[in-house]
Amino acid sequence: MMKIFKTQRTLKDYLSSIQGEFEVGFVPTMGSLHQGHLSLIQNAKKRCDIVVCSIFVNPTQFNKVSDFTNYPKDSLEDIELLQTAGCDILFLPNDVNEVYQNEEKVSLELGNIVNVLEGEHRPGHFDGVIRVVKLLFDIVQPDKAFFGLKDFQQFLVIQKMAKVLNMEIEVLGCDIIREDNGLAMSSRNKRLSNIELKNALVLQKALHHCKNNFGKIGLQDLQAECFGILQKESEPEYFEICDAESLLPITEESHSENIRALTATSIGEIRLIDNIEIV
Ligand code: PAF
Repeated sequence: MMKIFKTQRTLKDYLSSIQGEFEVGFVPTMGSLHQGHLSLIQNAKKRCDIVVCSIFVNPTQFNKVSDFTNYPKDSLEDIELLQTAGCDILFLPNDVNEVYQNEEKVSLELGNIVNVLEGEHRPGHFDGVIRVVKLLFDIVQPDKAFFGLKDFQQFLVIQKMAKVLNMEIEVLGCDIIREDNGLAMSSRNKRLSNIELKNALVLQKALHHCKNNFGKIGLQDLQAECFGILQKESEPEYFEICDAESLLPITEESHSENIRALTATSIGEIRLIDNIEIV
């Protein structure tokens, strides 16, 4: 039976009674769970003895109030899904203060990876993500933490945060889980109409076009073609081909061994992100 804790005090007390004995895996979420989240729970179960999940819709990471208020919330269904997936512990705080009480503000130097792409297009977003993940890591003190690679930049930012703060937490990225038609699973997909769901396949089209034509045509032309594909069905913000560690855009002269294409585009009101490994 999954244990549910609503306060950080009771969760910390329970965890401190078992920590040391068991390896703890942590999956932080904002709820509205789908197969992508459940695959993180499965990954955590494979690698750890105890799996802790948190559901907390963090207001400080939304740069638009409407995005926060419209974010889908259904904790009863989420609890059932977690229970079935074999999650051991759920942290389900009732209000913002439960998480943010006693926050000690830290200012971190994380470099280029926080300022580009999502950092540039959603001002303040990563400040909010860093604040809440640091607080949650301090509460749960896991050995390993699991994040989906759909939010590839978020994964890099959290990995670097843990390193800079000398946290003894292994931050692991897990494969993107997709619908049969290739659409990356996201809580935001629930807000797409049937027509918008079809239009959302344009992200896949653009990313695959990039992968299939990489090295065959000039980078700038390739990027422009991918942006053009997105424009047919959506309103793209960016399509960038980057070094997968620094997120610096690659040029004809760079010698990156790991390259990723990352994109954000809006289908009607809904903003979606996705990415693909190029090499
Ligand atoms: O990816 C998410 O769902 C959120 O950004 C996270 C990591 C749970 C922090 O609120």
